[in-house]
Amino acid sequence: MSSHPPTNDNAMAVRQRAEGLLRRMTPAEKVGQLTQYFYFGSVSDQESPDGSGPLPQPDVIEAALRRGEVGSLLFVTDPAETNRLQRIAMEETRLRIPLLFGFDVIHGYRTVFPVPIGMAASWDMQLIERVQSIAAREARAVGIHWVFAPMVDIARDPRWGRMIEGAGEDPYLGAAVAVAQVRGFQGDAVGQKERLISGPKHFAGYGASLGGRDYDEVNLSDYELWNVHFPPFEAAIKAGCGNVMSAYMDLNGVPATGNNWLFSQVLRKTWGFDGFVVSDANAVRDLVTHGFARDLSNAAVRALNAGVDMEMAIADPAFESLPSALESGQFSENDLNASVLRVLEAKVRMGLFENPYVDQSRAEEVLGDTRHRTESRIAAERSEVLLRNEQELLPLNVHEWSSIAVIGPLADSKRDTVGPWVFDFNQDETITVLDGLREKAGDRVTISYAPGIRRAHRAFPSMFDMFPGNIPDQQPDFDDDVEFQRAVKLAADADVAVIVLGEWQNMIGENASRSSLELPGRQLDLLKAVVGTGTPVVMLLMNGRPLDLRWASDHVGAILDIWYPGSMGGHAVANLLFGDVSPGGKLPFTWPRSVGHIPMIYSHTTSQQPEKQAHRYWDEESTPLYPFGHGLIYAGFEYSRLSLDRSSIRAGESLRVSVDVKNTGYREADEVAQLYIHQRYGASSRPVRELKGFQRISLSAGEVRTLGFTLGPDELRYWNAASKVWTIDATTFDVWVGGDSTALLSTSFEVADS
Ligand code: BGC
Repeated sequence: MSSHPPTNDNAMAVRQRAEGLLRRMTPAEKVGQLTQYFYFGSVSDQESPDGSGPLPQPDVIEAALRRGEVGSLLFVTDPAETNRLQRIAMEETRLRIPLLFGFDVIHGYRTVFPVPIGMAASWDMQLIERVQSIAAREARAVGIHWVFAPMVDIARDPRWGRMIEGAGEDPYLGAAVAVAQVRGFQGDAVGQKERLISGPKHFAGYGASLGGRDYDEVNLSDYELWNVHFPPFEAAIKAGCGNVMSAYMDLNGVPATGNNWLFSQVLRKTWGFDGFVVSDANAVRDLVTHGFARDLSNAAVRALNAGVDMEMAIADPAFESLPSALESGQFSENDLNASVLRVLEAKVRMGLFENPYVDQSRAEEVLGDTRHRTESRIAAERSEVLLRNEQELLPLNVHEWSSIAVIGPLADSKRDTVGPWVFDFNQDETITVLDGLREKAGDRVTISYAPGIRRAHRAFPSMFDMFPGNIPDQQPDFDDDVEFQRAVKLAADADVAVIVLGEWQNMIGENASRSSLELPGRQLDLLKAVVGTGTPVVMLLMNGRPLDLRWASDHVGAILDIWYPGSMGGHAVANLLFGDVSPGGKLPFTWPRSVGHIPMIYSHTTSQQPEKQAHRYWDEESTPLYPFGHGLIYAGFEYSRLSLDRSSIRAGESLRVSVDVKNTGYREADEVAQLYIHQRYGASSRPVRELKGFQRISLSAGEVRTLGFTLGPDELRYWNAASKVWTIDATTFDVWVGGDSTALLSTSFEVADS
């Protein structure tokens, strides 16, 4: 299906068309366009995933649709069903306004890519853009128009399960990843072929919930909002995203979904956002739960007045009361019209009036495209991070070793391999670590397997339990002691053991905060027993947040963080372990030693005792286990000749930084060169280091490359809490370039008053 939507050049024509429709709409129809329902079809006899009551029945939603009171649906992914519902909108409603279908396509649709935190660990923006364009292509092929992604919330507390959905702790990396994802999903503008509307979320500050407990209140100073939490949103808006989603929690005492300052002042006035804003699921109703709105009608009015255009509703939308609130003058019809126009314009831009239906015959062909699987493998290879590699245990010495014991239930779990936020993956196509190693080993090496322990369980039910495959089976016949011993014996008898540990995918994600970072269940016992056999051990970690690796990082030969690697994860792992590919991923967060370290970030300000920074706790070192940006390679890189083209600039000017990077190893490998700055003094005290540039490069053995970076106003400014404006101080800046946030090679320059 090809649509020919108007481009940005004829924004006037888009507006006129939307206005033409608006003039003919009743208040109920207008509010209908601002209403989005979950539509679960056959599973609708269940409780809603957030526990707010039974899901609405399909016939109730369809009746509302026929009345012209539904603007959008989410969770419809069967193209035949999409077309059936769209036909109701196009043929049975008075104004024939097409539906917009939205969905959570977070890290792939049929082809699943590594989870977002893993993709961020690739530091490869082209890759991220490419894989999200594939996700968009597949999703569009089944009739989806709009994706609730990327999640660009900065996460500095790994207890918060949604850390997995974002790009980690850093605003600079976070902004770059946000832009790459928006471009991948959406292209240059709303309405491109095989692309979707991209909706960054959750505006704003959601990642900073008290205690890392999902949905709990957030208290952030303006300083932190502007310098840390807003930059990825601003970057996504500059990249042209067509939508933004609100957040659930209270932000500084006002629920984000009722926060006029966020939407009217920051989003629209300051950044010029002209797309539409959707609430998070049921977040408008939640304004009552928060003790903010008096009742549902008050919640609807206050959300709309705050700048939320569309309500995402699981059932009984609060917006239903807007027509009568309008009649009683509780808000202006102009405000209502402005919101409706934004939604109609999105539909016009997407070409839905001309091409409302999806071509069912093409869906399978697009979903079956094998090039997508290849990209999934490459994405997994490039995202994995080698945390530790003592005595070059990796790559595996397959010339001398002939047997590998694969241990751990995660090694053979398709559901875990693809990770959370996946609903339509294909089991048969998914390659687990065990599958990948078996295929790679062929006849050369014997692969044996034992799970050793049961799958770990959550202590509480998950909101995703209603979706197939999400509840781990109880394994009633599993004999814990026998299986444990069998795994240890297998390891003892093998040349090398590959043990796959981490969190069951349902232990992380939304509504999956943890109060500890320990390996779940008996995993650490199993690891100790396997290491105790004396067989060299490679540990693969499946995770979306740092886990407590204090024991492992002292005793295990090699640790490779594979995240939840996606459909082709097993092939990627096999290629890395066998040395076909060198790992090149780097951590997008600081790895704490234990949960007591949280929050721990590399870009903290200095204290009055900087020399004692490592001894802030008397019972444990206060340095990270692994620093931000850390990641080893099967090679070595050397940085030299760091230089600047000018030693002094005026505020507002730029300078160029250059550095030589040499691959001193024996093979081709990738490196992520990272540039950090520090402002020595000024109107605020600024972090000891801040990432302000990076490049992922591939160098052959012995190759030297000169890299260039620009430092200019965007990199040197910060939002000044005292004057409440963006500021560039006249000061001295230190610059470091290297392979992680502890890089030593440095220089400095001056900024003079402009
Ligand atoms: C999540 C959003 C998601 C929405 C729709 C909410 O619970 O917070 O991130 O897009 O559900 O599935």
